Amino acid sequence: MNTQFDDLIRNALGARLQAYAPYSRFAVGAAVQCKSAAVFIGSNIENISHGLTICAERIGMGSAVAAGQRELVTIAVVADTIEPIVPCGACRQFLAEFSPALIIVSATVEGDRKVESLSHLLPDPKRGILKNVHTP
Ligand code: THU
Repeated sequence: MNTQFDDLIRNALGARLQAYAPYSRFAVGAAVQCKSAAVFIGSNIENISHGLTICAERIGMGSAVAAGQRELVTIAVVADTIEPIVPCGACRQFLAEFSPALIIVSATVEGDRKVESLSHLLPDPKRGILKNVHTP
């Protein structure tokens, strides 16, 4: 049994309880582990416009960055699904801004889990025009 990510998954499970998902009723929790070892959590926050909804992963990364932590190492994502979910395309791009090789630990509420790299889910995130604009 792989126990390496247990704490991070527990944090994501806890964050999932804070999800605001009255429209989809699909609650998601995320927990981000930074290089400093600090952990930040996120849950999905829906909006009556639907389109303004923000996924748990982006809230989690936003919490870390707002606390001055840009070196993200691992993100755990938990939902009540048959198979573990992975971040959507928008979140993949968002996460890749600081951490293109982020480790993604996806888990179900039941305890199934899958570990993969963001670079596998979104290779070459800055290819194209983004490669040619000035970056800090
Ligand atoms: N959602 C997440 O928070 N993360 C994902 O990886 C998939 C989708 C949210 C967005 C929306 O509030 C609900 O789940 C249904 O899509």
